[in-house]
Amino acid sequence: TARPVVFSGMQPSGDSLHLGNYLGALVNWVALQDDHDPIYCVVDLHAITVPQEPEAMREATRRTAAQYLAAGVDPERSTLFVQSQVPAHAELAWVLGTLTGFGEASRMTQFKDKSSRFGAESTTVGLFTYPVLMAADILLYGTHLVPVGDDQRQHLELTRDLAGRFNSRYGDTFVVPEAMIPKESARIYDLQEPTAKMSKSAASPNGLINLMDDPKVIAKRIRSAVTDTEREVRYDPQAKPGIANLLDIYATVTGRTIPELEAEYDGKGYGDLKKDLAEVVVDRVAPIRERTLELMEDPAELDRLLAIGADKASERAERTLATAYDRVGF
Ligand code: ADP
Ligand code: NA
Repeated sequence: TARPVVFSGMQPSGDSLHLGNYLGALVNWVALQDDHDPIYCVVDLHAITVPQEPEAMREATRRTAAQYLAAGVDPERSTLFVQSQVPAHAELAWVLGTLTGFGEASRMTQFKDKSSRFGAESTTVGLFTYPVLMAADILLYGTHLVPVGDDQRQHLELTRDLAGRFNSRYGDTFVVPEAMIPKESARIYDLQEPTAKMSKSAASPNGLINLMDDPKVIAKRIRSAVTDTEREVRYDPQAKPGIANLLDIYATVTGRTIPELEAEYDGKGYGDLKKDLAEVVVDRVAPIRERTLELMEDPAELDRLLAIGADKASERAERTLATAYDRVGF
């Protein structure tokens, strides 16, 4: 029997993926390879919905793919590719756009947030139709499951609506995908502002741990993480968000449980927790950074892997697109 298809992607932007991307998404992507049919995409078409420098874009696309690989995405067990190398994404997005209500798209909260931040002048139609492209990404592969965080839930609902609408208008064509709440994934918060999620768009870099950061920088950021004025290492996300975040990171990196960690640090100080945490995080991140740098030093090999991925993805995507075009009357 066929394994369930999973689709997920990240944008190539910023200097590096961060610890939130890794512990919240990539670790789960790697685990899914055992019993799913995963499609992992570097979504560069999505990235240009906000302005990008072409050279930085090229570099970030390669680096993001290299980070997927370095984190353990296996190009034999997963389909790993760059979105712009598979034209069917843009083509199906056009068709789905014709089924999307203007009002429906206008209700997407991520668009409303971003466009109010950018101002009307620099808000583009591309940013507006972003969720339609995301629907195409997912529907092209007969995706059963989509790992989604809160911020993408509304977009997945739109994807499901569009799949259903196409199917009832033109005949059964698309699998209607389900949201997947990953078992092991953690939500990681900013080290300086532990009620905000760790994000590449953080106000200060001190709250962020990038996978490409030097081990010394990582250790320093963890040592300087904001905590509270108590001394007790206790898991209480409401009252002690800083310590709870450090414990979550610790537990996710080591596979140990929170109660185990609370017991271990009973009677010890925040300094001990931070020192040990810095060590386990560096031990986990340093090999990923080194492997990423190795892959980046051999662009021909990386491009070869991505070309194989794009071929695999194209074959599947083209089949779905051909069916959809045929149903529409093309
Ligand atoms: P960013 O917030 O840095 O822009 P993205 O929104 O591009 O990151 O997210 C890419 C992936 O990483 C998504 O699967 C998202 O759920 C996950 N992710 C991002 N930030 C975090 C975080 N702080 N904790 C857990 N997962 C995260
Ligand atoms: Na984001």
